[in-house]
Amino acid sequence: MSSNNIGSRTITFDERAFLVDGQRKLLVSGEIHYARSPRELWPVLLDNAKELGLNCIASYVFWNWHEPERDVYDFSGVRDLGHFLSLCAERDLDVILRAGPYCCAEWNYGGYPPYLRDEPGIVIRTWNEPYMSRVEKYFSHLVTEFRPYLASNGGPIILVQVENEYANVAKRYGDDGQRYIAWMGDLAKKLGVDVPVIMCEGGAEGAIETVNGFSISQERMQQFRKAHPGMPAIWTELWPSWYDTWGFQRHYRDPRNIASHILSFISNGGSGFNYYMFHGGTNFGRTSMYLQTTSYEFDALLDEYGAPTLKGRYLARLHNLLINNSATILDGECEVRNDAKGVSTATWRHAGRSIIISCSKSPFHAVVKDEKGSVLFDTEKIYSAVHASHRPPKWKELPAPLDWQAWAEPRPSERTDDAISSPVPLEQLSLTHDKSDYCWYSAEIKLEKNGDHVLELSHCADVMSIFIDGKPVGFSQPPFLENRGPTSTTPAIKTENNKVNALESAVGHYKQSFTFASSKGKKRLDILASSTGMVKGDWMLGASMNTECKGIWGKAICDKRPIKSWEMRPFLAGEKLNLPAFTKSVSWHNANKIRSQSCVWYRSTFIIPKRVLKSDFRLDAEGLGKGMLFINGHALGRHWLVEGKGYGADEPWQNRELEGLSLGPVGEATQRYYHVPRAWLQEVNELMIFEERECNPGKVCLETRKA
Ligand code: GAL
Repeated sequence: MSSNNIGSRTITFDERAFLVDGQRKLLVSGEIHYARSPRELWPVLLDNAKELGLNCIASYVFWNWHEPERDVYDFSGVRDLGHFLSLCAERDLDVILRAGPYCCAEWNYGGYPPYLRDEPGIVIRTWNEPYMSRVEKYFSHLVTEFRPYLASNGGPIILVQVENEYANVAKRYGDDGQRYIAWMGDLAKKLGVDVPVIMCEGGAEGAIETVNGFSISQERMQQFRKAHPGMPAIWTELWPSWYDTWGFQRHYRDPRNIASHILSFISNGGSGFNYYMFHGGTNFGRTSMYLQTTSYEFDALLDEYGAPTLKGRYLARLHNLLINNSATILDGECEVRNDAKGVSTATWRHAGRSIIISCSKSPFHAVVKDEKGSVLFDTEKIYSAVHASHRPPKWKELPAPLDWQAWAEPRPSERTDDAISSPVPLEQLSLTHDKSDYCWYSAEIKLEKNGDHVLELSHCADVMSIFIDGKPVGFSQPPFLENRGPTSTTPAIKTENNKVNALESAVGHYKQSFTFASSKGKKRLDILASSTGMVKGDWMLGASMNTECKGIWGKAICDKRPIKSWEMRPFLAGEKLNLPAFTKSVSWHNANKIRSQSCVWYRSTFIIPKRVLKSDFRLDAEGLGKGMLFINGHALGRHWLVEGKGYGADEPWQNRELEGLSLGPVGEATQRYYHVPRAWLQEVNELMIFEERECNPGKVCLETRKA
């Protein structure tokens, strides 16, 4: 622990609030996932959290971030949880540690290590010995890492969350699920977690339950009070917008609507809220779940680079007001009146002071006054004032590099490593164990005629690139469904769904077919299967998470005839060579010679003048197709310049207007700009790209703005 160890604190609760050393505390909290930013950015994020008036930080602890290989634990560098917690303590920020083992969070496999899928006899997230013994082993290790940082030991952690939104899967696992979730809470306590253990949306019986959502209505608060008497009402996930997925439009949420809903929640007796996300950050490398974009900006209070947004500056005014009046709100007598026009007015009186919050619903608007009738906050007026003084950031292009070089990823026929042979295509994760997005599937086919041919794959995921005799003839067409149903033919059990995603199907959506033109004769078929990440939860599969599949695992039929002999080559040759780190292991050519090919590695050198090295940086990936980006050996993430189509009937929420949500324009790339952390840059930089499609890297440029 750092010198900021402030002595042991006792955390208790009553039905009004959590109490720190006997004093009720209003929690104004923001979620920051340390795993979604380089370590160097953590102090900046936390300083900005402080500046925007937060008194608490929440973070998930992703199991797969800390146990990257079975029985190999890593809490160093960018995984240094203790350092992150010390930085919070230094700034007098309390912490809600959302410890897992399951997290969700649009993170690969919901935070689970992919090796779990290979454990014999395992069923994830329920009462199952192979699963629980892995959980117990990891959790015992994890708790020793964070125990010194518990409030009881003088640290910043005031609450520990275990599991996450179990209500989403509770029906599927029945009594076994309930036994498991109760065991999880007991395990944390047994291992010495002596601050309150909370569970959001579907905790074990008697556990301290918390709520999540875009808004928490008066009716929901009444239900909560009934179901959880004596417990404080804490909003563990207040969604300031929503995450973006490849092939769809981007999401936004009106800050005024958020402020109104916070005031309404407080009026109804809420005593703590946590923005999910306060800073969304970036899914570097291969950390995103299936379909989640590399950016996790979330239209949050800090932008992806860590700077306060207009939303953040505006809500900061509300935070200050609430914290300054928290004693009146938490200790005062409160009276709530609803009038005939639907305006609800809450009045608190305490120690000669009053606070009056009036909230109206159509349109959403809230006003806060003091005992003299002076207006302390007006959701509309304060927004106009903050908006008028806010300057949106301006990005500037850096000079383009001149030296694009290329190395063509060898086609399977050129590979010197051994292939795995089988009469049927073998599922990809059983070959890669999710250490790569890529696996080649190759076969010899005989085409009986000249002209169009049809290749049908009954079960495949996610993006297939099809080659005939080494030439690209087609690839999968997005958009893909986020909740795509079961990977096998076992019928899905209907479960309660997470509020926003209503679609759960008993039929899996893994069938893809491709029409291509070719002359007749014997041909070589190569399919490059590429994963966009593993699912985050059961409901995406309509079945247990261990049934997740990638690559090709069903029937493959060409012109109505099954293909009966396959060769699989997991990993790209460039990955096997670790090309981003060992650039010199291959001979590079001038990119102009290779540009019109697909599946090519590109590299170039970017010079950044010393005077701008302290800025924020992003890569404009215009000109690229789909693949992976690296800078100086660091994996920036997946890129995909796929166009955002309309959601149509699959729109993930029902109350869009009431919750101030909107969508970006149709037709723009879901993600064109990619965060390049300044911590990974120097004056001379090497950018490397693996590109699946024919593309023009010459258009790619680095942009900068004042930090
Ligand atoms: C919640 C979940 C979070 C995150 C969020 C959406 O249901 O608990 O982990 O996935 O949805 O962004």
